[in-house]
Amino acid sequence: MAHAESDAEPTRRDFLYVATAAAGAVGAGAAVWPLVDQMNPSADVLALASIEVDVSAVEVGSQLTVKWRGKPVFIRRRSEQEISEGRDVPLSDLKDPIARNDNLPGDAPATDEDRTLDDAGEWLVMLGVCTHLGCVPLGEAGDFDGWFCPCHGSHYDTAGRIRKGPAPTNLPVPVAVMADGKIKLG
Ligand code: FES
Repeated sequence: MAHAESDAEPTRRDFLYVATAAAGAVGAGAAVWPLVDQMNPSADVLALASIEVDVSAVEVGSQLTVKWRGKPVFIRRRSEQEISEGRDVPLSDLKDPIARNDNLPGDAPATDEDRTLDDAGEWLVMLGVCTHLGCVPLGEAGDFDGWFCPCHGSHYDTAGRIRKGPAPTNLPVPVAVMADGKIKLG
């Protein structure tokens, strides 16, 4: 009987083993964390990140919104009517005559052609952030058939150019290229 009882009790050696194993686990956990932490991209790496968006399923006259660098990006495949409306606007009618297109020189004029990604003018890519105070404008809305910002009433046309309201500048076009049904941002 005494022999059985002593078998059931953890021995001092067992206890030491358990204590060491627990300390080992804590030690391993503490050592792993800095490695995992280092593998996470830092804020400046994230800020430079590029993304590729498959736009092959986007139909004419519709829009895809993606999040990039923490902001919404509108990718619109414009209809013939939207293209011709954008191209018919004389530069003298524009509130902001600068293209605001990061793919072009900083003083490029805000013609419809200078706002779009392709020569045909079908693809319009721009940050979906109102240049007044940063609200997200609504698509297919406003007095110019483009975007409307309900926060304080800014109207953008079918090329994302500010036409009416308090926003000072056109919606910015980010660095983007198109190839094989995909648009690469950044
Ligand atoms: S934030 Fe868009 S109009 Fe003010």
